[in-house]
Amino acid sequence: MSESTHEWWQSAVVYEIYIRSFKDTNGDGVGDLDGITEKIDYLSETLGVDALWVTPFYPSPMADFGYDVSDYRAVHPLFGDLAAFDRLVARAHEAGLRIIVDFVPNHTSYKHPWFTESRSARETARRDWYVWRDPRPDGSPPNNWLSVFGGSAWEWDENTGQYYLHSFLKEQPDLNWRNSALKSAMYDNMRFWLDRDVDGFRLDAVMFMMKDPEERDNPSNEDQAALMHKSLGAYDAQLHHHDQGHPDIHGVFREMRAVLEEYNGPRIALGELHIYDPVRLVAFYGERMDELHMPANFGLLKVPWTAAGVRALVDNLEAALPDGAWANYVMGNHDDQRMASKRGEEESRQAAVLLLTLRGSPTLYYGDELGMREAEVTPNQIRDPWGIAEPHLTRDGCRTPMAWSPSQSAGFTSADEPWLPLSSDWADRNVASQLDDPDSYLSLYRRLLTLRKQSPALRMGTYRALDAGPEQCFVYERMHETERVLVAINFSSEPRSIDLADFHGRIAVSSDRPREGGTVAGSLALGAHEALILV
Ligand code: GLC
Ligand code: CA
Repeated sequence: MSESTHEWWQSAVVYEIYIRSFKDTNGDGVGDLDGITEKIDYLSETLGVDALWVTPFYPSPMADFGYDVSDYRAVHPLFGDLAAFDRLVARAHEAGLRIIVDFVPNHTSYKHPWFTESRSARETARRDWYVWRDPRPDGSPPNNWLSVFGGSAWEWDENTGQYYLHSFLKEQPDLNWRNSALKSAMYDNMRFWLDRDVDGFRLDAVMFMMKDPEERDNPSNEDQAALMHKSLGAYDAQLHHHDQGHPDIHGVFREMRAVLEEYNGPRIALGELHIYDPVRLVAFYGERMDELHMPANFGLLKVPWTAAGVRALVDNLEAALPDGAWANYVMGNHDDQRMASKRGEEESRQAAVLLLTLRGSPTLYYGDELGMREAEVTPNQIRDPWGIAEPHLTRDGCRTPMAWSPSQSAGFTSADEPWLPLSSDWADRNVASQLDDPDSYLSLYRRLLTLRKQSPALRMGTYRALDAGPEQCFVYERMHETERVLVAINFSSEPRSIDLADFHGRIAVSSDRPREGGTVAGSLALGAHEALILV
């Protein structure tokens, strides 16, 4: 690996922007494209990330807040228009930032004209673009598949006397990826955005795109406790062997990759698939590295937060990664609890050090750089359709407005009420207040991102875990040519001392103590829950 063979996306820190909550410029309480454009300097200079993943901004009835697309080639007026999108891309590129857009291939909105046509009659040309099936003889759904968001995955359509399949809401009918005309139409939709110069796609819910062609019933799940996933409620009562993840998905990924390669780039595919077994996960890079550039790795969201747990996660992934495959790590996103709430104060600071020093491209969720916490969302404030169905699963708490300043509505909007409430600690945890405070989360993230930019070892060096660490410490080395960086993380609530016989250097970053610049030789004292980077 060298600077010349290392591609932009292998060095990139990807920053996820949940568009509704980033910055509102027209006072309607909802974030928009111009809001992102307005904050490009913050993103590229103040913070120093490299690529933005922008969640869906397409026309949509908003049953699932944009993950129900009714037109793949336009912008919802709530977020702006195509000219606003072009301005964003131009401004981002000028500042050296890449733009990755969300693409939702598994399903459309039920209001998409394709579905309107498809459901109008059995004989229509686009009937087969969705999944329509006859009922069982007793009138019940064709099989036992469930919707992630609750209930059967089949919805009865009176007009044509068949059921249609929806892996998510009934307002999100699944597309039929075994139909070649549908595939071509979707690839053309990707080209539409590639022609507007996007640098890649975050591909939504891709494992659902290919199902068992025989559409067999899922077996029941006898082993609830062994599941690593957060409980999805009734959905977990089945093993999802047949309603997703059929190996034919590999062929679709190869075709999508070929579309990306029609363009100068590289333009990348970052796929959303929730697979926690590294051996299964890495299959989606493709046997010839011709599928997803990066199958998203959500392991850090679920791992037990111990030195042994985290080390095993990283070592197992490293061992499974085939030649030419490049890892990535996700520490937060719009479907999961915020890191600062899930892990706690000190732990989320060490998590930041970990995320930005592992070998692979990190994905950072907006607001996590402020240590933003889950907002309290009262039952009558719940907006997430999943939360409306199953309140304990609501994702609203991690989707609340970005806090920019201590002024009204945290500088997010001029409206009296943003679309979701602000996190309760916004008066302290906001960009303006944290900027001048050297102990703040934001200052820590800025130091980490600056160091990462300057350090080839951190961006592309090798990774090796060291056994030197005492119990509950995870110590690893990143190396590139002659540059060596050590990372030492103490997961325990007691101080620890590490023997570093062959190391002489200095502390580049501490997660929570003012000891940067201090020299280290021979041994290293780590505070409780402290994480250090040594250079
Ligand atoms: C993905 C998205 C999630 C959405 C779902 C259905 O998991 O991340 O937010 O609800 O797909 O599109
Ligand atoms: Ca707005």
